[in-house]
Amino acid sequence: MATSTLNPLREGLRLSRIPEPSTIVIFGGSGDLAQRKLIPALYNLALQRLLPATFSVVGTARKPLSHEEYREELHKAVGQYSRTRPLNEEVWRSFAEHLHFVATPDDAGYEELRRTLDQLDFALGTHANRLFYLATPPSAYEPIVKAIGEHRLRGETGWARIVVEKPFGHDRESALALNEVVHTVFREDEVFRIDHYLGKETVQNILVMRFSNGIFEPIWNRQYVDHVQITVAETIGVEERAGYYEHAGAMRDIVQNHLLQLLALVSMEPPAAFDDKAVRDEKVKVMRALRQIAGDDLSMNAVRGQYTRGFIEGVPAPGYREEPGVAPDSRTETYVALKLWVDNWRWEGIPFYLRTGKRLPKQSTEIAIQFRVAPHQLFSREALAGLEPNALVLRIQPDEGISLRFGAKVPVQGIRIRAVNMDFDYGASFMVDAPDAYETLILDALRGDATLFTRHDEVDQQWAFVDPIIKGWASSEAAGAPALYGAGTWGPTEADDLIERDGRKWRKA
Ligand SMILES: NC(=O)c1ccc[n+]([C@@H]2O[C@H](COP(=O)([O-])OP(=O)(O)OC[C@H]3O[C@@H](n4cnc5c(N)ncnc54)[C@H](OP(=O)(O)O)[C@@H]3O)[C@@H](O)[C@H]2O)c1
Repeated sequence: MATSTLNPLREGLRLSRIPEPSTIVIFGGSGDLAQRKLIPALYNLALQRLLPATFSVVGTARKPLSHEEYREELHKAVGQYSRTRPLNEEVWRSFAEHLHFVATPDDAGYEELRRTLDQLDFALGTHANRLFYLATPPSAYEPIVKAIGEHRLRGETGWARIVVEKPFGHDRESALALNEVVHTVFREDEVFRIDHYLGKETVQNILVMRFSNGIFEPIWNRQYVDHVQITVAETIGVEERAGYYEHAGAMRDIVQNHLLQLLALVSMEPPAAFDDKAVRDEKVKVMRALRQIAGDDLSMNAVRGQYTRGFIEGVPAPGYREEPGVAPDSRTETYVALKLWVDNWRWEGIPFYLRTGKRLPKQSTEIAIQFRVAPHQLFSREALAGLEPNALVLRIQPDEGISLRFGAKVPVQGIRIRAVNMDFDYGASFMVDAPDAYETLILDALRGDATLFTRHDEVDQQWAFVDPIIKGWASSEAAGAPALYGAGTWGPTEADDLIERDGRKWRKA
């Protein structure tokens, strides 16, 4: 692996990010998320020496496992899912000594958990600093939070924080109800609602690019921007998640959290400081400025789709209703396109087009700021035939980077103009693999930095925007039936109509 000394762009990046001695308690510690993301992230933090010397991880679930069985399971999982491979067995061995498991099927289990935490504090001097991580199905969140309170798992001294996985609620009402329960045990500044998109390097780079450079901000407004397109495209289908997805759909799974977060970062006003309060205040203001899509606007500004049988990269793919666990007459959307407005001074009159879907031809997450055309054209219509509008494209994944698309003269006699790209490529510029989002976010939570986590008023505003659309779809037969699109295509024709009505086109992501 390249080190900072090999690349001048990374010089001076020796970070003092090591948290205080602490214990992390993972509820759902034997589940898929823990195995694929959380424990590999912790192992990679250990590999980078970013964990404190006295640190422990206690996994819990209802089904019992011995410490040894737990370590064995996680050894396999980290070997399979860690971003750095092969596994460094020496680092693993010393990391695994910090892993423990306690089954919590009932009150006796929670009492056992408290005793284990107290013993670890005593043995390691972790001062009852505890990070609780809810990685169970959402239905278990409330009972677990109550159990943390009832069994006094917070400890007498030290800090306590709780990370709550998405989804935070199923709608506005349930999110508020969950919030109330969480607040009976934790103060708001102790609650870390995770949206792992915010931990991605390229998502954080949206803020760095906008607010550490002088050249972008002056043109980041209604005077220069024609419109903004945000795309989260997946090639995968519903996989083994039908049980969850049938009740969620793309609106709750992607739009309510990831897409609205990207929208907030790209459209927010400059915060007064890079801290949790200032950044999140500005994001909430943008969410409040979103114009509601309801009533007659629904069919004009929101499209929902569902994939049917097709081909992805030449391989046959089943339709959504043919997937295991999906109802044969399911109306769950696997695709959403929206046209929305941020009603504030900066963005008045500028549409934002958002789309997300499963079984699209390419995996791609990007934000494209499309600029207005030049006010006066010097060149002939023939010369301009190859010109496209200027676009600044922030590629979140894969091929992370930024491109600026502009017109250049084709090197032939006479004037011919063609659109070209000026490219920044993350990998080529920094020559190191970016940390996984979960590494960044777990480290931030251990250090008490909530900037990249979602505050309760932000979640509330996200649901306030999304709820009326979902309700509108549910209440009207005609608006509610998802438009069909073949797997391997870019979504239903209705989504093309949504943008083409305005004389614009979806970018080829
Ligand atoms: N998997 C991902 O990539 C991913 C990504 C983003 C968000 N999430 C979120 O993360 C959470 C966990 O997802 P997952 O995919 O890891 O689920 P999972 O594979 O089904 O694992 C769930 C874990 O929770 C435990 N559990 C289940 N019911 C419980 C209960 N009532 N009380 C205590 N523990 C319970 C399970 O063990 P026992 O059955 O033995 O109790 C298991 O350890 C979900 O909220 C999901 O939306 C997951």
